[in-house]
Amino acid sequence: MCGIVGACAQRDVAPVLLEGLRRLEYRGYDSAGMAVIDADGHLSRTRVAGRVDDLASVLEPQLPAGGTGIAHTRWATHGVPNDVNAHPHTAAGEVALVHNGIIENHERLRERLEAAGYRFQSETDTEVAVTLFADRHSRGADLFAAVQGGLSELEGAYAFAVVSAREPGRMIACRRGSPLVIGVGIGEHFVASDVAALLPVTRQFIFLEDGDVADIHRDGVAIYDADGHTVERPVRVSELSAESVERGGYRHFMLKEIHEQPAAVAETLEGRHADGRVLEAAFGPGAEQLLDQAERLQIVACGTSYHAGLIARFWAETYAGLPCDVEVASEFRYRAHAVTPGTLVVVISQSGETADVLAALRESRRLGYAGVLAICNVPESSLVREADLTLLTRAGPEIGVASTKAFTTQLTALLLLVAAFARRRGRPQSEQELVRAAVQLPGALERAVAVEAQVAELAEQFVDRAHALFLGRGAHYPVALEGSLKLKEISYIHAEAYPAGELKHGPLALVDDGMPVVAVAPRDDLLDKLQSNLQEVRARGGRLFVFADDAAALRSTGGYQVLPVPAGPDPISPVIHTVPLQLLAYHVAVLRGTDVDKPRNLAKSVTVE
Ligand code: G6P
Repeated sequence: MCGIVGACAQRDVAPVLLEGLRRLEYRGYDSAGMAVIDADGHLSRTRVAGRVDDLASVLEPQLPAGGTGIAHTRWATHGVPNDVNAHPHTAAGEVALVHNGIIENHERLRERLEAAGYRFQSETDTEVAVTLFADRHSRGADLFAAVQGGLSELEGAYAFAVVSAREPGRMIACRRGSPLVIGVGIGEHFVASDVAALLPVTRQFIFLEDGDVADIHRDGVAIYDADGHTVERPVRVSELSAESVERGGYRHFMLKEIHEQPAAVAETLEGRHADGRVLEAAFGPGAEQLLDQAERLQIVACGTSYHAGLIARFWAETYAGLPCDVEVASEFRYRAHAVTPGTLVVVISQSGETADVLAALRESRRLGYAGVLAICNVPESSLVREADLTLLTRAGPEIGVASTKAFTTQLTALLLLVAAFARRRGRPQSEQELVRAAVQLPGALERAVAVEAQVAELAEQFVDRAHALFLGRGAHYPVALEGSLKLKEISYIHAEAYPAGELKHGPLALVDDGMPVVAVAPRDDLLDKLQSNLQEVRARGGRLFVFADDAAALRSTGGYQVLPVPAGPDPISPVIHTVPLQLLAYHVAVLRGTDVDKPRNLAKSVTVE
């Protein structure tokens, strides 16, 4: 993972690099560093274990001067997070490089370079790459030729930005398997792992393709493809504003993003339905043909996006009669498949850069699945570029590592997709039911967010707990899974989710008066059965917190606390019930004093396997 930013400008670039790092910190935040080269070819490098703010406090008394620079925020893969393993890495005292990705053949290369007399300071795969480039550079290749030549020896995934003290004013940027964009300014150029990092300095971007190598100067860029041919890549204008990635008046990005859900979902729906029907043309060219061919769905995703897939499976089978399987991408990509003809693969990913999801997409092509539809939040991502069809979630940038608005907008997009299938499978009434329910989502989510004060009060009862159990049934079981994932990732309380009917097959043994049990209780056909499951918990002294549809008319009694969730039509009930669980995790984490937006050991965009 990791975040990369770089610049070639006339002005001093250190402030731009620092701001870029702050905006990229969601990609990794265990160490950070910067290297700047001034016009005389003097290279200064600073690295710290810790956050970007720690780097800033070392640098800010006197920011390094220089118009060429690179910087990095790290999520450790090879080597512990310390300042020696932090990027930028340098070699031969003149070449500096930042890297996102993994070099798979680094051990072999390291042995060869050591035999040639090079000594390594760090445990990273990255230092091998910079040494490889520096070796060619020291033997006469200019920086571009040194990098381009060296790349042919590297196996694995990378995005690099490379500079040389011998060539101030030049930066080489390249990518294979990891994201990288070029920001085009007036008389200056930048690179970064994503657009958001550069919004304060430009809104014009060039998206590098896999295999591209860019030769960047202050006033120009030349791009070469994997075969070394000059290529033109279009300059695109981003519609994002710098403010869209700022916290506004909220204490955390996560809270801001929870509150943005009604508007984000409205945005996802915009222009995609009319009169109770889905406008398939809005899915993009080729949509109708691809959907026509699909006889079943195979959904593939990771983390929270996987939970969205689990809910969509209920929708697909219930409303469209469409068989649907769901699998985590890291499993899908490595198992043997018996492919049923006519199976459309649906990949779901907020970032569109998750390595396992991309690999699963490519594997599905090799295996002969019928096609790939991506549900994704980032229009310029690798996933969108590689899929046959994309349904964008339009949630806007999500910065908090724990996914919230990305999840509910994914669900919204999936509802529209299932509605489209319902019609083509001869169920126009189901299509209408789904679309009419989807239209109610923004208002329903508005009401769901309004339960915050009650949830915050409830959160106090979780602060001292070491464990929590989440229960749900049917389409609300994945809601329980998502609620437990949220709680564990940001509050570090161990949480598990079970289908309520499974309780007596094991987890009931854990229940005593120290175990909070959270139940998701919509007013549906399973409510009576769920109530019986809850009695099993109560009889063992468990403390029940029931997030119940207010139309279910459940009442609090001793050991059984009900939190009313605003009612909504069946199809959108799982989306509505998600929100109070997000708020619960958030408020428990705040009370426990954890780093809500950047939980330990995690990162937002997992671009390594
Ligand atoms: C990471 C994030 C999760 C996210 C998952 C999948 O683990 O911390 O919040 O759900 O990746 O990410 P994607 O971008 O593919 O949805």
